[in-house]
Amino acid sequence: METLIYYFTGTGNSLWAGRKLAEHLPDASLRPMAPLVRNGTRIRPEAATVGIVCPVYFLGLPSLVVRFAGMLDMSDTGYLFAVVTMGGMGGTAALRQLDGILSRNGKRLDAGIAVRMPGNYLVGYSPPAAAKQEQMIRDTGKALAGFAEAVKVRRMARPGPALVTSFVHALMYPRFIASLPDSDREFTVSDACTSCNTCVQVCPVENITLEAGRPAWHHRCECCLACIHACPVEAIQRGRTTAGRDRYRHPAVTIPDLKAQQAGESPVPAEPRSPL
Ligand SMILES: Cc1cc2nc3c(=O)[nH]c(=O)nc-3n(C[C@H](O)[C@H](O)[C@H](O)COP(=O)(O)O)c2cc1C
Repeated sequence: METLIYYFTGTGNSLWAGRKLAEHLPDASLRPMAPLVRNGTRIRPEAATVGIVCPVYFLGLPSLVVRFAGMLDMSDTGYLFAVVTMGGMGGTAALRQLDGILSRNGKRLDAGIAVRMPGNYLVGYSPPAAAKQEQMIRDTGKALAGFAEAVKVRRMARPGPALVTSFVHALMYPRFIASLPDSDREFTVSDACTSCNTCVQVCPVENITLEAGRPAWHHRCECCLACIHACPVEAIQRGRTTAGRDRYRHPAVTIPDLKAQQAGESPVPAEPRSPL
């Protein structure tokens, strides 16, 4: 294998971004980070080119990605790139955070890009309207194709400075991380729940079980919001703001794809819900 792309996703944007890159790169494979972090052993990628693809959370990295990056042994890696997907801002601050963690392990990012995708932070806002989503995904597809060309020739494209967002990140992010384990106490489930088990299966960190037919969260939440967005009957809410807001999943990413992330299987592109 020439290129190995590690991904973490809640609602499919980052998985799709990883797939888009893999389409353009020779002999590329995708691998989910979550099961590797669960195993807890050091990770030595068996590819000369390695990529990391994940969402931006609070102008920084998901906690799981921080742990993943700290577990990497990059001794055999020639070229390392990262793609962060975001609703609007903080991508460069997240890339710089990743670069900082990796550099403590003796390796720097060779290239990084932040791309805009439909925002999935349902607690704060509704996802964009369908036409806007399609436009964003199309534009980002083009940006990823261009980035893949740079990766192919191992061009250096290191993340630039992000003074303002890195400053705001430094203020906001520690509170987000500290609140994570218990943040799932804010999830509630209504009588609409059909005990279908989807929330259990899409949670990348196996944080949900069904107790008496209803989801129960076990306080190792990553706040990826996969459960709330994937529930087919919108029975899950978080706090007081999510009721009545549209749910989101990348149109080309299926529930089996999200299950595959949890199980550690390579995501087989299934029948897409749209041609995007
Ligand atoms: C907890 C949380 C925090 C987020 N924080 C940011 C943020 O700081 N900036 C931003 O642009 N998008 C933010 N988002 C939106 C996601 O980064 C964006 O929708 C991403 O593409 C989701 O990727 P995924 O579908 O692979 O999970 C946040 C989403 C979540 C769930």
